[in-house]
Amino acid sequence: MYTHLQLRDSARPPVTLSTLHRMREAGEAIASLTCYDASFAALVDEADVDVVLVGDSLGMVIQGHDTTVPVTLDHVIYHCKAVAKGMHRPFLVADLPFMSYPSREVALANSVRLMQEGGARMVKLESGVEQVRIVEFLASHDIAVCAHLGLRPQSVHKTGGFRVQGREQDAAARMLQNALDLQSAGADIVLLECIPSDLGKTITDALDVPVIGIGAGPGTNGQIQVLYDILDITPGRKPRFVRDFMAGAGTPLSALKAYVQAVKSRSYPGPEHCF
Ligand code: KIV
Repeated sequence: MYTHLQLRDSARPPVTLSTLHRMREAGEAIASLTCYDASFAALVDEADVDVVLVGDSLGMVIQGHDTTVPVTLDHVIYHCKAVAKGMHRPFLVADLPFMSYPSREVALANSVRLMQEGGARMVKLESGVEQVRIVEFLASHDIAVCAHLGLRPQSVHKTGGFRVQGREQDAAARMLQNALDLQSAGADIVLLECIPSDLGKTITDALDVPVIGIGAGPGTNGQIQVLYDILDITPGRKPRFVRDFMAGAGTPLSALKAYVQAVKSRSYPGPEHCF
């Protein structure tokens, strides 16, 4: 079936990388969320979320672990399949989990699984200098890649916990250079987590690819949040950048629509959500 041709002229054609580039150029904020199952995927689609990530945050919000480290590739594929079934418009990205990209060849094999078995359109990997060659290799095989910089939850045991990154001048300069190198290597999207707002804007302005932030301030091209955080499902204390969109919303769908509207109008994140 040529589904893409049937959907191209529909009222809600699927979001592609070209759509995201056009949005960036037009200054339209990209509204993104994580998702882990088909029912929520249908709601997220109905709320007009542009990008959906099957994140390894599922290890924390679904499986109950205190980090994302225990998540395996099979776990991500299982959830990705479910999400892919529930939606058609958003651009579907899947995480390469902890130690699923130790070399270029393993990263390629696992990305192929996320796409062929999970239905992902793009893979995301937590990136530093060491991942530039991996991104280059994936890109040379025409795999769409999102490079995740800033706070990298898969590395918390090494880096000392869930902390704001890039506060010091030399760390900020290194992150900017990493982002430029990853873009040159072929990264199609950069995701920035938990960094000062001015650094989020500096990196966004320096790049040509769309930049999506979580706790990276209002100056990025889009925002992403963990679905269960903004619906106030995650129990207990949540990160500073989270806003409870269920408050006063009535239904999850209304809350999701409010999130998309707040991202698009750039009323979220506010100063109280930033570093
Ligand atoms: O795994 C995840 O959900 C993520 C988001 C926090 C961006 O990487």
